Amino acid sequence: MSRSPKSRLPFLALALALTPLGIAQAQPVMGSGISLGTEASSPARDVGFASSAPADAALVVVMQGTALPADAGLSAAESAAVAAAMTADGFEGKADSKLSLRGIGSRPRVLLVGVGSEATALDFATAAGTAAQDLKGEKAPVAIVGLPSADLAAEAALGYHLGQYRFDRYKSRGDEPAPAQPVTIVHSDAAAAQAAYTAHQAGVAEGVRFVRDLINEPPSVIYPESFVDRTREAFRGLTNVEIEVLDEAAMRRLGMGALVGVGQGSPRGSRLLMVTYRGASGAPLALVGKGITFDSGGLSIKSGAGMVEMKADMSGAAAVVGTALSLARTRAPVHVVAVAALAENMPDGNAQRPGDVIRTMGGKTIEIVNTDAEGRLVLADAVQYVAEEREPFAIVDIATLTGSASAALGPEFAALFTRDDAIADRFDAVAARVGEPVWRLPLHPRYAEAVKSPIADVKNSGNSPAPGASAGAHFIEAFIAEDMPWAHIDMAGTMWADSSKPLTPAGPTGYGVRLLDALAREWRAAQ
Ligand code: BES
Ligand code: MN
Ligand code: ZN
Repeated sequence: MSRSPKSRLPFLALALALTPLGIAQAQPVMGSGISLGTEASSPARDVGFASSAPADAALVVVMQGTALPADAGLSAAESAAVAAAMTADGFEGKADSKLSLRGIGSRPRVLLVGVGSEATALDFATAAGTAAQDLKGEKAPVAIVGLPSADLAAEAALGYHLGQYRFDRYKSRGDEPAPAQPVTIVHSDAAAAQAAYTAHQAGVAEGVRFVRDLINEPPSVIYPESFVDRTREAFRGLTNVEIEVLDEAAMRRLGMGALVGVGQGSPRGSRLLMVTYRGASGAPLALVGKGITFDSGGLSIKSGAGMVEMKADMSGAAAVVGTALSLARTRAPVHVVAVAALAENMPDGNAQRPGDVIRTMGGKTIEIVNTDAEGRLVLADAVQYVAEEREPFAIVDIATLTGSASAALGPEFAALFTRDDAIADRFDAVAARVGEPVWRLPLHPRYAEAVKSPIADVKNSGNSPAPGASAGAHFIEAFIAEDMPWAHIDMAGTMWADSSKPLTPAGPTGYGVRLLDALAREWRAAQ
């Protein structure tokens, strides 16, 4: 029975009485019909290790040349058939080559994936990622052979996980049925391969998946508060982890006018999330991420086309939290603090205006000339907070900061800015090894001109067409102490893949987790 309008009146009156007039309600408005949940968002094959391939599995053979590996488990006749096919096709096992065969013995399929004779760990992961994507529709179980060491087998497991990722939870029917059969990574010492995987790559796989899921979720679902909830969920049960959250009132008390200002046009409250993983003593490495859960541009509103990917504008924040998750999950002997500067940038009657002047935590003032240059604002308060609160031995910030970085480097490289050549070398080495490359762009006092304000200490944007990525980096530098080792990564170009690559299916790449995970494992405080 439906209530008459009359019987609703007392409720309405009560609701009105409890509503402070003129004050925007901090009620998040959810997308219609969509609610938060924990259901598996990415149906995937289980990945396990064994010393031989199951007899009924589609066989993936990682080839460093034309010689079939000993553990392929093929009979003499089957090997001869594969060799004949290789000759006919001109397949030589070179990097990035592959050959798919059917009708070999009772195998549903034999997929040869070349890595070349100089193959690195990354090449083995990439080969497995290639297999994961090629065998998406394969109903049979899968086995991967030709992995020369336990470590390389663990890399292949990671590659398979990264390559098979998908996000289907808002499709009524998935594009393809979920693969039910597992994948077996074959290595003679399966226990050693499993142990190596558990000690490192399992964490990276979980961290990247966490990041991709968060970015894929619609911005009606992921906003600062729900970002925090998801983080708490992901870290539940892990040891040596501390999660601290500042809400807007706390940030105001600390004088974080820049971070609070950015979120001021949104009914969803801003947050500063800090995840500490203490797997070692000594000063921590601070990882600070831009976490704009949706960037409309604010009053300096973006065009429709420019706004469409802006749910991914929290990719930096997701990357630092995903990195902490990887390190904590694997109990890495490191001390890191991941800081996510979370806000939603929306136009509103209460939104900040071009022309406003705000004050950051450390006292510096900023003239807002463009509300769409919001990432540097939230980072300004976040880097000052972590420097003061935790005295890290170094700070790395990562952000989808400028279209300019993306225009300069495309999806191939993230832009790296640092004052210190040794830090640049450190990044170069790690980035090449894990396949998340960076390219150094200039950080120079000349860019001071671009952010000079007539009425405040700095302004938040240069005049276009400015060297946007360098101006942004220079702006952030103004909030970092001169003697603090520091790097800034502008990952605007690498956050999203338009087309699939072996380790990054089309969509959010999860860029940053592999890079920062590897960096944190070897960059420690001098004791
Ligand atoms: N989130 C954007 C940058 C961005 C653009 C990331 C495209 C990924 C893809 C950032 O907040 C922004 O709007 N930057 C402005 C800065 C400008 C106003 C100084 C830009 O790059 O145009
Ligand atoms: Mn913006
Ligand atoms: Zn942004």
